[in-house]
Amino acid sequence: MAVEAGAGNGLKRADYDVQVSATVVVGTQWGDEGKGKLTDLLAADMDVVVRYQGGHNAGHTIVVDGRRFALQLLPSGILYDHVVPVIGNGVVVDPAVLLREIDELTASGVDCSRLVVSGNAHLIMPYHQELDALTERYLGRNKLGTTKRGIGPAYADKAARVGIRLQDLLDPKIFRQKLDVALKEKNLVLAKVYNRLALSASQICDRYLDQYAPRLAPLIGDSVGVVHEALRDDKRLLLEGAQATFLDLDHGTYPFVTSSNPVAGGACVGAGIGPRDITSVLGIAKAYLTRVGSGPFPTELDDEVGDLLVERGREFGTNTGRRRRTGWFDAVMVRQAARLNSLSEIALTKLDVLDTMAELKVCVAYRCGGKLYEHMPYHQSELHDAVPVYEVVPGWQEDTTGATKIDELPGAARDYVRFLAESAGVAITRVGVGPGREQFVEIPAAAE
Ligand code: GDP
Ligand code: IMO
Ligand code: MG
Repeated sequence: MAVEAGAGNGLKRADYDVQVSATVVVGTQWGDEGKGKLTDLLAADMDVVVRYQGGHNAGHTIVVDGRRFALQLLPSGILYDHVVPVIGNGVVVDPAVLLREIDELTASGVDCSRLVVSGNAHLIMPYHQELDALTERYLGRNKLGTTKRGIGPAYADKAARVGIRLQDLLDPKIFRQKLDVALKEKNLVLAKVYNRLALSASQICDRYLDQYAPRLAPLIGDSVGVVHEALRDDKRLLLEGAQATFLDLDHGTYPFVTSSNPVAGGACVGAGIGPRDITSVLGIAKAYLTRVGSGPFPTELDDEVGDLLVERGREFGTNTGRRRRTGWFDAVMVRQAARLNSLSEIALTKLDVLDTMAELKVCVAYRCGGKLYEHMPYHQSELHDAVPVYEVVPGWQEDTTGATKIDELPGAARDYVRFLAESAGVAITRVGVGPGREQFVEIPAAAE
């Protein structure tokens, strides 16, 4: 039956303007911008914190009173007793890693019992990890430089509809059926393509059903229900991204990307909310640039300045220990990140790492094959050959790590921050001057 427009079917148009308070934290570069630190800081005023994609390829560091926590799967709000931490449906979960993380945090006095893990999140299985390492090895010089955590193969199985979900752990019969289907193909690939031993279904069941399932069962639940009850009750929700915009499967420097969607739109899919429920999107950027793994990097520094950034910024993977590649801040990338995520504002981290530099460079455009680009060229071959166009700005050569207010930052540091905001086209509202929870300086609107 057709409903006449305005006939009144008893439903009112939703008014989303005022009540909803869901904020996304998203990396604007190639990861490791400080999402853990920002999420932890903001979580002080949040009720629910949701990790919406990725897996234990992430490493989110939080430093509280000199104690360092490096979280891979757990949302960075977990350190607060009042926060409900949620692992959303968009995450891929290695249960051994999740349980280890819970045990370690519990041992250090953090209560993890409020954790809710989506029953729709997919499991990382032993063959995912093995295939990730094998495909990297077989790619040789063309390897992606993945974290070898099984992330790509797990998301590939999800898309191919042969994945196994957390909720399957609660139904041993279904789990075994799905595992048998998956192993039939995986064991053929392992044996015939890679000359490896077949994996045993019963050994996997012993671990997943007998060891992991009983411990995870109380945590597996309806994450979408938790999120929507929070929104209904005017609670505050923070959606924590892993990886970053240029590691996004669709918008990153493909194929040198991860296999999920870290962009803010991915928060809707990975947490189970619609775009109208998101009120603000906080981008996070380092005051320079790093990347782990292969792929184009126009502002990369292969010299002693790059080494200095590694040394002062301690640029080694939180998770894999790999040395991060370093380069100058690339405003072209962050401008593109502003578009892709509809950024409301940016938190800039690691300004203190630049404290000793006499001068700094900021990439404001690229020159590719005689053409000038102020936005990312859509064709990746151009990005591979892009030559950065730099603006050179003076450094401040003063220690910023003790700054707590904007006027405690040196003038040249304030100018640098203002220049980055103008070049990126987004307000910078916080600046990180050290790893500690309290080491963020607020930038008031008038000072932008
Ligand atoms: P994430 O993956 O985005 O959460 O970032 P990581 O934790 O992998 O990497 C960021 C690193 O920088 C961590 O070691 C943080 O403790 C550190 N960090 C974060 N903000 C700052 C800052 O403002 N200054 C300094 N010196 N270190 C910071
Ligand atoms: P956080 O959340 C930096 C990179 C890997 C590799 C590519 C694909 O801590 O910022 P994958 O294992 O995901 O298939 O690897 O993505 N990568 C990250 N780089 N920070 C991360 O997470 C990353 N997660 C994946 O190095 O280049
Ligand atoms: Mg990290």
